[in-house]
Amino acid sequence: MTVQLGDTVPDFEADSTEGPIRFHEWIDGSWAVLFSHPKDFTPVCTTELGAVAKLKPEFDRRGTKVIGLSVDPVSDHERWAADIEQTQGVALNFPLLADPDREVAELYGMIHPNASDTLTVRSVYIIGPDKKLKLSLTYPASTGRNFEEILRAIDSLQLTANHAVATPADWQSGEDVIIVPSVSDAEAREKFPGGWTTLKPYLRTVPDPEHGKEASAKACC
Ligand code: BEZ
Repeated sequence: MTVQLGDTVPDFEADSTEGPIRFHEWIDGSWAVLFSHPKDFTPVCTTELGAVAKLKPEFDRRGTKVIGLSVDPVSDHERWAADIEQTQGVALNFPLLADPDREVAELYGMIHPNASDTLTVRSVYIIGPDKKLKLSLTYPASTGRNFEEILRAIDSLQLTANHAVATPADWQSGEDVIIVPSVSDAEAREKFPGGWTTLKPYLRTVPDPEHGKEASAKACC
């Protein structure tokens, strides 16, 4: 099964390094990132889990829970966690799901038979508080992911969930954004009273609507 954008993500119960997890309950109205790893005790995965553990405060700052998955039992995960701490200099600080029977992997379409019949690819699912899939990525086993990019995508998803804007290529939080084409100039005057820049009738840019709020909150208190 493949999970597509806008679908409610499948619920499941699975064991993890932090005990049994019922996924929908665990999401509990937060943003969430579920990401899979081909196998325990593999080099790229070891570096990825260390990278996410180091970035955990950044996920927390975005109100986003993170959870990994690997098709091995919890007893293996626990032994691997010691290696991750030793080699990456940071302890695992989020749950790692055990999926030895590949039930969750199958449910989410994390096994791509042309890559491997038994190992998952590197899947990423960014899930909204409504438990709907907002973004997914698929990387092969040989290419480690850039988790700063996942954070950047969360910034865009959270901004565009609340404002009639889209974010341009390589956008970083605080930079100008694009007024979505479905908003007419008349509507834009109401939504963006500070004005905007028209480069083409279909390409109108406006300051990041959340950035001004942060600056004025800091100035005010
Ligand atoms: C790795 O994590 O290093 C890896 C896992 C499976 C295949 C290739 C690399």
